[in-house]
Amino acid sequence: MIARAELLREMGIAPLWRLRGRGAPAERDSATPEAASERVPAHAEAGPADVRLARIASLAFDALAADIDACTACALCRTRHRTVPGVGDPHARWLFVGEAPGADEDAQGEPFVGRAGRLLDNMLAALGLARGRDVYIANVLKCRPPGNRTPAPLEVAACLPYLDRQIELIAPTLIVALGKVAAATLIGTEQSVGAMRRRVHRYRGIAMVVTYHPAYLLRSPAEKAKAWEDLLFARRTLRDLAAASAGASAAAPATG
Ligand code: URA
Repeated sequence: MIARAELLREMGIAPLWRLRGRGAPAERDSATPEAASERVPAHAEAGPADVRLARIASLAFDALAADIDACTACALCRTRHRTVPGVGDPHARWLFVGEAPGADEDAQGEPFVGRAGRLLDNMLAALGLARGRDVYIANVLKCRPPGNRTPAPLEVAACLPYLDRQIELIAPTLIVALGKVAAATLIGTEQSVGAMRRRVHRYRGIAMVVTYHPAYLLRSPAEKAKAWEDLLFARRTLRDLAAASAGASAAAPATG
């Protein structure tokens, strides 16, 4: 377990963090931007798109990872070393969604294992969470765009059915979109992260909040304080949702 002082140092926002109660943090208190859009063939994969969609929508977790491994739906399959389906607790209440694997993730087959990943782990630890414990981490794209360029629209369109199926299987209480690409993909609008944060959005009926991408926070450490506010907002949102659903179950008449 990383000491809190180390987390504070890593996040670079130590002055904002206060311990309250039994040691809990106080409640108050990408990638290349416009890289040239590489042209990719629409659907290199055999068979009509709706057959593929129906297949993906029926897959269980293990089969989904195998399907991603075999995917040739866009040109990224030609340059990837490993696919990066996702990692974590398949019954997690928290789902963190990033943009796309980078070089480290492409080499290891796991999301957020590089520098940005270490920051994400520290952000999770600050909330009392850890990857794999009530947390699932995935990306919009399951394969690395060469040079870490911004995902092309066709790549996002080809890969989104996998994220949709992951969301359906995990059924998280809250999605945290990390950065503009994840947020814009899920919300469907091109707004800045600044405009999308601190509000509860919905994706396929699931509550979603938006914060800055850890890679952006590494480049702009002054924004870490805002990211911490967003995480506290996310935690309050999740607690409110959990309390509301517990209240609803208690009020429901017994059946049978
Ligand atoms: N950036 C992302 O968006 N995802 C990763 O997995 C790594 C870096």
